[in-house]
Amino acid sequence: MIIREAQQIKMAVCLLSFVALISCNDEPETQSFILSQESLDAATISYQTGITGDPFSAFSDEQIFGSTDPAIESKTRNLYSNGQAGAPVVPGSIFVRRAYNKNTNVLINTVVMVKHEEGFNEPTKDWEFVNMAYDPTVDYSLHPNGILPDLIQTDIRGVTLNKCVNCHKTKADTNNWLFSTR
Ligand code: HEC
Repeated sequence: MIIREAQQIKMAVCLLSFVALISCNDEPETQSFILSQESLDAATISYQTGITGDPFSAFSDEQIFGSTDPAIESKTRNLYSNGQAGAPVVPGSIFVRRAYNKNTNVLINTVVMVKHEEGFNEPTKDWEFVNMAYDPTVDYSLHPNGILPDLIQTDIRGVTLNKCVNCHKTKADTNNWLFSTR
């Protein structure tokens, strides 16, 4: 009888300490930011339009780009974000650059940079990159920044788009990896 009681007490203590362990684990629930189609669709606050040529002196740097980019001269670029002018860059901040044919005004591609939470990817300071070519099947009135590629499409989405990374990295120290200022 005494042994049984002792066993019951032992079990109760075990149970209690287990419950205590769980409730003592008061780490804040971190809701990781996930880039969704909805959040991409919402990044439409225009902050700079009609960029032509190479005002940021970036596209003629052969060290980074491999060669000068003559195509840049034929493009007009507009920039958008999901934050108001002057808003700080925080996890969840989205920046969009749409490039158009300067003569026809037809969209060429849309490139996106998304700031994720700390720890997402240290080498890119938690920036994710996306490159979407113009797709005539996309309804741009519904999805003004294009259709977000699947995560497995690592050639057009992710942290290993080396051209993007290498060029934008030149702004790591001075402007948070960005060329423009919103
Ligand atoms: C050779 C340098 C270079 C490369 C490569 C490059 N960018 Fe950029 N990016 C720029 C410059 C310069 C701007 C400023 C706007 C402009 O001149 O078009 C810019 C603007 C942007 C912006 C708007 C925010 C900002 O920084 O001003 C985004 C988003 C962006 N680029 C994403 C990308 C992605 C994604 C890739 C790869 C697919 C890429 N860029 C490749 C130079 C580069």
